[in-house]
Formats: sequence, structure tokens, C-alpha cells
Amino acid sequence: DKAGHKHFMAKEIAEQPSVIGAALSHYLSADGRNIVLPDTMPDFATISRLTMVACGTAYYACLTAKYWFERLAGLPVEVDIASEFRYREPPITPGTLALFVSQSGETADTLAALRYCTDRVDTILSVVNVAESSIARESDLALPILAGAEIGVASTKAFTCQLTVLLLLALRAAHARGQIDDDRLADILSSLRALPSTLNTAMERNTQIRIVARQLSTSENALFLGRGLMYPLALEGALKLKEISYIHAEAYASGELKHGPIALIDDTMPVIVMAPCDALFDKTVSNMQEVMARGGRILLISDARGIATAGDGVWQTVSMPDIDPILSPILYALPAQLLAYHTAVAKGTDVDQPRNLAKSVTVE
Ligand code: F6R
Repeated sequence: DKAGHKHFMAKEIAEQPSVIGAALSHYLSADGRNIVLPDTMPDFATISRLTMVACGTAYYACLTAKYWFERLAGLPVEVDIASEFRYREPPITPGTLALFVSQSGETADTLAALRYCTDRVDTILSVVNVAESSIARESDLALPILAGAEIGVASTKAFTCQLTVLLLLALRAAHARGQIDDDRLADILSSLRALPSTLNTAMERNTQIRIVARQLSTSENALFLGRGLMYPLALEGALKLKEISYIHAEAYASGELKHGPIALIDDTMPVIVMAPCDALFDKTVSNMQEVMARGGRILLISDARGIATAGDGVWQTVSMPDIDPILSPILYALPAQLLAYHTAVAKGTDVDQPRNLAKSVTVE
């Protein structure tokens, strides 16, 4: 049931404010001030390293979470693609917590990576959508993301629910390790509680993004740039676009532009820059100037201050509501998804069942 939407993907994008709200009510106390996790949750104060393993979009959720765990909790983090991890057979040092992220809970490589860790770590933790899945069953503790069934092959609401649960874990870790003061924690939790309504405001950009997407749909290539927390999201934005619109899209950390991809820039290359006006914004402005000087067309997704700072010369802008920068990947996922969706619709591709792809990759 598409609930009045043309595609499951559109329905699942639109559902994000409510499913994130459901995940938050599950993991927050009634007054919203405390993070509630099962008693069997390992103690983040006693671990020395976190290893996260996943595939595809779930891998990008892990890459985002690395920034959170490092910045908020001072915890060393490794993130790996499951198919690399399982065959590299990396050494696991004592005190490592292994965390697997999977929407379906059936991804063959992620499951194999989990099994590799079973006798090598004290606790196997997973963040899954399908609670009765193999990955959930074989974990010591499986935390549900509560996104509800995801039918569209391109993952959308599972991604933002994964991010929400991972951010709560990073906050728990920060608290357990004495790395965050009570005021900062209260601030972030209050922004999280407001997130469903912030996402609803961002949904109002839908029509504008559809118009931009119509223009993007005539391109053969696209480049996504992001820094810091926006870098993994740039990767996810490029993956969404290529999966469903078949436009060749690549993502780079903005600082890498000069180290190669700038050679691609000409007036046929749209460059999607996702950058709230945070501490790193000035550096992103210089990157945009480098692109514009070579005729590249910039689509800037930012907040009002960022758009004002970027000045003239930007091809298109999409203005996002203000948000605590630590939460920006969850909010900015929405325009990235909508951009891919509307581009695919404009191209007339099969949005919910893109060619060559399966929802659950149970063979390697
Ligand atoms: C992208 C997408 C895939 C999955 C990947 C992992 O839109 O859906 O990249 O994220 O196949 O799947 P799960 O999360 O089920 O392990």
C-alpha cells in the first residue's frame, strides 16, 4: 500500500518524521531526557575500540557514526565494508566492541563478518530493521531501528533510523566515558526530540527539489561534495542517485577536490554540495569557488546563513531549516533522497525496482 504516493520510495521518504519519532520514543525515557537501552547493553566505558561493519547505505550510516563516536565519546572507531572485512580477516584487539548494521539483517557479507567476530569479541551488537533476521538472531544484542517495512529497493527511512539509533549510542558512549557535559547532552536530546518537526519543515522543499531534479535529469554525471559529517552523506547521495536514476554519480570529501576530481569539472558537470553553515563552511566556500571558476554548476544544499555566505554564482540552492550541526546528516539525508527520487521520476526509470538490484543481498 503506497498510501496515496506514486512509489513506495516516496511514501518511505515521507514517513521519516513519524518513524524517527517512533524510534525516539522507543529509546528515550517518557520525559525525553534519558537514553533507555537494554540492561545487556555493553558498557562503553570499558571498551577500547568500536568496529562497525556493513554494506551499502548501512555502511554510510556507520561512516557517519564514526564521526559521532569519535567526536562525542572520544572512542577510536573502525568502519569497514563487510565483503572486505570478512576476507581480510583483520586482527581484533582485546576490548573491541563489534557492531553490525543492516536493514534486512540477511546480507550475506555482513552475516559472514559477524560470524568471523563471534569468537573474537566479547559482545556482538547489531542495529537492524528486521527483528527476526539472521543477523539479529546471531547477535548478543540486536537493537531495532523501528523503521517499519521498507519496500523500495533504495534504502531511505532505514538509513535515517539507523543514524538516529547510532547517534543515541554515541551519546550513551559519550556519557558513559565522561566525555559530554549534562548541558550539551540535554541540548542534543532536545534537538533530537524536535527532529520529526524539523524534518517536516524540510519536506516543504519537495516541490523546489522536484524542479531542480528535472534539470539534473538531463546530466550524464554528477559530483557530490561534503566535509566532516556531510562527507558520508555525500557518498549516500551519490549512491541514491546512481541506483535509481542511473546517472553516474561520484562523491568526494570536499578537501579531495584538488587531488583529482577537479579535472572532471566543466559546464556539463553539476556539483551537489551539502554543507550547513558550520565551522568548516568557509573551506567549502573556497571549494565552490574553484568549481565555479571552471564553469561547474553548483547545487548548494545549506541553511539560510550558508546560502547568504556563498553569495552569487551558485546555480541552484535548497534552503534547509537550522539544526544543531551534530544532527545535520539526518536532516540533510532528506533532500539527498528527494533529489534522487525526483531525478529518477523525471527520467522515467523504475524507482522502486531499479534494474539489476535486489532488496536483500543474500548471496555474495
Ligand atoms: C542502497 C541499498 C543497499 C543496502 C545494502 C545493505 O539503497 O539499499 O546499498 O543498504 O545492500 O543492505 P542491508 O542494510 O539490508 O544489510
